[in-house]
Amino acid sequence: MSQNLDVIILAAGLGTRMKSATIKVLHRAAGRPIIDYVLDLACDLSEQPPVVVVGHQKEAVQKAIGDRARFAVQEQQLGTGHAVMQAASAITRDKVLVLSGDVPLTRLETLRRLIDEHDRNGNALTLLTMKLANPASYGRILRDGDNSVIAIVEAKDATPEQKQIDEVNAGIYVFDSAPLVENLRNLSTDNAQGEYYLTDVLGMLRNSGQRVGAVIVDDPVEALGVNSRSDLANVEGEIQKRVVEKLMANGVTFRNPATVVIDSTVSIGADTIVYPFVTIEGQTTIGEGCLIEPGVHLNNVTIGDDVHVKTGTVAENATIEDEAAVGPYAHLRPGTHLGKHVKVGNFVETKKARFGAGAKASHLSYIGDAEIGADVNIGAGTITCNYDGVNKNTTVLEDGVFIGSDTQLIAPVRVGKGAYVGAGSTITKDVPADALALSRTPQRIVDGWAAKKRERNKKA
Ligand code: UD1
Ligand code: CA
Repeated sequence: MSQNLDVIILAAGLGTRMKSATIKVLHRAAGRPIIDYVLDLACDLSEQPPVVVVGHQKEAVQKAIGDRARFAVQEQQLGTGHAVMQAASAITRDKVLVLSGDVPLTRLETLRRLIDEHDRNGNALTLLTMKLANPASYGRILRDGDNSVIAIVEAKDATPEQKQIDEVNAGIYVFDSAPLVENLRNLSTDNAQGEYYLTDVLGMLRNSGQRVGAVIVDDPVEALGVNSRSDLANVEGEIQKRVVEKLMANGVTFRNPATVVIDSTVSIGADTIVYPFVTIEGQTTIGEGCLIEPGVHLNNVTIGDDVHVKTGTVAENATIEDEAAVGPYAHLRPGTHLGKHVKVGNFVETKKARFGAGAKASHLSYIGDAEIGADVNIGAGTITCNYDGVNKNTTVLEDGVFIGSDTQLIAPVRVGKGAYVGAGSTITKDVPADALALSRTPQRIVDGWAAKKRERNKKA
């Protein structure tokens, strides 16, 4: 953590190659806008909030970032040099780290190395470079006979020989503040793109006798920028890999890590086992010793310890406490809260429903807008009829209630503590504690009826 560093993050460009109505820095990878990863780096490196240069969709970008940064506005995107110029008045420290909002995979250690190298050599500029088999549209690094960096030439301005150079500019720089600000004023637009290039500052510093250095990054993925959907998919893949590696390092088992999709916002405790084809999104927290079976989809779910989430279960904005078992094929909708030891079985749907400890709904039920007490047993095919066409009404089942199979609970309705409801009942009125409620019509027996019917059919 440095007291002496300002960080500038460039994020004013729209990113036309994304073919999107949304500015590229707000596209999400592993559950977060890509600029969030860059903000994390900035916040780990400096106590000063970074300065984000915004332009396109600036309101949306500012809203997404909130008070994690300061902002400078670049009304017209006249180039990377012009973008940094807009942030110049916010620079108060001796050094400036320039990052791009669309380059989210740089490792903290690499940036620390860049800053150390800058300090150790007394450079005015230290930049990150990489070697690429296909240097494509990146700026080329020109070195002299002593192997010192002398200039960056943009691909569009490069001669055919320069285009052969495989070392390129990653777009990440540490500058001494004073010479940076001084030289930004002297940039011109005399180049192929008619832009103010930040990269031209390098040549200017060299010409005025100042030191420029470079750190070559080993893993070019660290400088991978998001310019297209294909880049975005690569970035997502890399973040996924890092997320899973980190979880494994913390004691989580993945039976087939290549098949899971897990947001970087998710936490999972040790000794939890995750089966293939699981998707875990949002602010999901899973405790220790859980079993998450194939095809489970969790979004903003809080799960305790030793919970068993069985195949094909879908849950969103729900809480599942310790030692509960859910599924296979359960659907926990928003506002579901399952207490300790609860069992919710196959083809059960819940919504705004609280289940007390030990309650069970083992098969084929809909439980919505409900307060279920401890140790309640809900038989197969029970339906809370919570919607009367206008309002949603609440069903309350007090502790220890037993609901026979195929019961409809016409809400609002309350079943008192310890009461029984006979199978096949339609419950329209409150049931007192310890009572039995039964609403099915009494069974009738007509002796020989079926045999006589068959006889009649034969004659006809
Ligand atoms: C830039 C570098 C190039 C380097 C590459 C690495 C220059 C002139 N070239 O090229 O040497 O290899 O990055 O990725 O700097 N931006 C603004 N305002 C502007 C222009 C750009 O905020 O007026 C922002 C963009 O939103 C983006 C970043 O600056 O976050 C880089 O801009 P981009 O246009 O992608 O630069 P490149 O052409 O890729
Ligand atoms: Ca770029």
